[in-house]
Amino acid sequence: MLKLNNISYIIDNKTILNNINLTLEDNKTYIITGPNGSGKSTLAKIIMGINKPTSGTILLNNEDVTNNSITIRAQKGISYGYQSPVKFKGLTIADIINISTNKINSNEELSTILASVGLNYDEYSNRELNDKLSGGEMKRIEIAGIINRPSKITILDEPEAGIDLWSFNDLVELFSNPKFKKNKTTIIISHQQKLFKIADEIILLKNGKIEKICNNGNYQDLLNCHNYCCQKRCKHE
Ligand SMILES: Nc1ncnc2c1ncn2[C@@H]1O[C@H](COP(=O)(O)OP(=O)(O)OP(=O)(O)O)[C@@H](O)[C@H]1O
Ligand SMILES: [Mg+2]
Repeated sequence: MLKLNNISYIIDNKTILNNINLTLEDNKTYIITGPNGSGKSTLAKIIMGINKPTSGTILLNNEDVTNNSITIRAQKGISYGYQSPVKFKGLTIADIINISTNKINSNEELSTILASVGLNYDEYSNRELNDKLSGGEMKRIEIAGIINRPSKITILDEPEAGIDLWSFNDLVELFSNPKFKKNKTTIIISHQQKLFKIADEIILLKNGKIEKICNNGNYQDLLNCHNYCCQKRCKHE
């Protein structure tokens, strides 16, 4: 379970996150959505320890991890897949999957892991994680590492970004599998309604604040709210 208490993040006198309070339970999938610039990735980075909150506390299973480094949080079971995956020149795809999953996988295991995101072992395992990979391939490799990593908290930042329509349907199926969300908290930052449908709760962030939380049965309210928020922002700012 992850608990965020009064999390705020201010940088250059600009309030990016304003007093966020959230309790995220095990075995549940949460979608965080909201307009561009509303603070979603910043919140994810604060949970992972990449950014330090200006105020507030983060509890992982009732343990205060607010002052823990990224490494310690990763060791305690928090995983984060970046919105724009990071390239590591010199490492192969097999290397990064082994690092992400924290074990040396057999060729068969690597093959299964890569297949879970639609990549062929023979074609990809020895390729370098460099500029020659397409954006969608990079994103798939990062997702493969994150979803196969033993985690208590799995955060995926816009997993749909760059993923083609056909493969996206497979991802939705994967995320909706009860085996996938078992014994952990899954947080998916997304703008995709197809993912809203498989979430236990959808959290709308606007201007660094939680605007609304709803379940997958009444997310239409949230879309109306979202449209309203955007229109209001365009009209008045
Ligand atoms: N280090 C920083 N310095 C100044 N502004 C920042 C910094 N980090 C983030 N911001 C600003 O904070 C706001 C929130 O950024 P964030 O990346 O969290 O948005 P987001 O909700 O993930 O948006 P998107 O949907 O486009 O990914 C943006 O206006 C961004 O420019
Ligand atoms: Mg973002």
